[in-house]
Amino acid sequence: MNTGQAHWHILGAGAIGSLFADALSTDGRQVSLILRDGVHGKIRTQAVERGDLVSEKHFKTTGPRGHTGISHLLVTTKAYDVCSAIDSVVHRLNPDCNIVLLSNGMGFQEQVLASLPSLNIYCGTTTEGAHLLAAGHVRHAGSGETRIGRAAKIADDRRPLWFHQWERAIDNSVWDSDIQPALWTKLAINCVINPLTALNRCHNGELGASKSLANQVAPLRDEIAAVCRAQGHAEIAEALPRITAAVIQATSDNRSSMLQDIDAGRLTEIDYITGYLLEVADQHSIDTPLNRALFEAIKSRAH
Ligand code: PAF
Repeated sequence: MNTGQAHWHILGAGAIGSLFADALSTDGRQVSLILRDGVHGKIRTQAVERGDLVSEKHFKTTGPRGHTGISHLLVTTKAYDVCSAIDSVVHRLNPDCNIVLLSNGMGFQEQVLASLPSLNIYCGTTTEGAHLLAAGHVRHAGSGETRIGRAAKIADDRRPLWFHQWERAIDNSVWDSDIQPALWTKLAINCVINPLTALNRCHNGELGASKSLANQVAPLRDEIAAVCRAQGHAEIAEALPRITAAVIQATSDNRSSMLQDIDAGRLTEIDYITGYLLEVADQHSIDTPLNRALFEAIKSRAH
């Protein structure tokens, strides 16, 4: 069994990965970064800005091909990279490895569970705000909440030993004995905000401030609510108007991750956001024409 002395390997050292690496290492955990072009043993300096304070840390890096075993793996890559990134280190995963999936979107959790059924797979969602100012330099834009639970439903839903360290290291980290409602809430919010802001090239706040955009939000949200309800999340469906309005307001100055991806010429996570919603809608024979139109519009813009 894994003891509490976790050595965390971080796969995906973007804004969120760097923020968590910094927090875990501040708490005294050993943390290594797995970089695509990483050279075993090479040190990478990472800076995290919080207001006027800048914390600089030096992390060991390794490439995927390294030889040392991995006992605790935090995955914060883009959704479409999760499976291939884990695949690239699969030969290094200890037989009782703990893997935490903290990427946006849904769908990859089931894929990882199916491909690694004997490992301990956890997943979650975070509303921590962070963005990369440059490679290895992150700004913490706002505190949020991080919810983690087991990816598979099993009888033992107690928090694992390593999570006690997370509770200390990561502000507002919460163990969820059923993580599905948290994942669905985040998915629903992303389905509303991400494609609309990406296609209209606007900050999140415009979805509340502009009458024509606000008029698009309401019917889109209703389609998403119908899928949540069919999936057994009636409470999310009921709360969705209030939750989306609150997130739009709280993140009004943000450019959504999908808008940023399109601007940077990256793939978007649409397959794991609206694409996942459409799959579930189809399973329940629910019509979601507005979501489908946004999905297709994003697909035709992005790669
Ligand atoms: O993907 C994003 O950009 C974020 O999840 C959210 C909540 C929509 C805020 O920008």
